[in-house]
Amino acid sequence: MSKVQIKVIDNGGLRITGDVELVDMEGNAFPSKPAFTLCRCGLSGNLPYCDASHKGKFESCVRAEKVLDDKE
Ligand code: FES
Repeated sequence: MSKVQIKVIDNGGLRITGDVELVDMEGNAFPSKPAFTLCRCGLSGNLPYCDASHKGKFESCVRAEKVLDDKE
């Protein structure tokens, strides 16, 4: 099994790569893809996927190093 990576994209969604199954609250699987981007702005017309509707309307740049600093 390949390692799954979730990348937080600046001002955008969450890029998922690797062998992962995406399911809804009832456990129904979405069509599988080797890579996809999940919306984290709530503006997508194709939820749960990002459709680039975030462009110019959503700002969020997070870094793991900053999150660790905030908890100290
Ligand atoms: S993050 Fe891209 S449409 Fe929401």
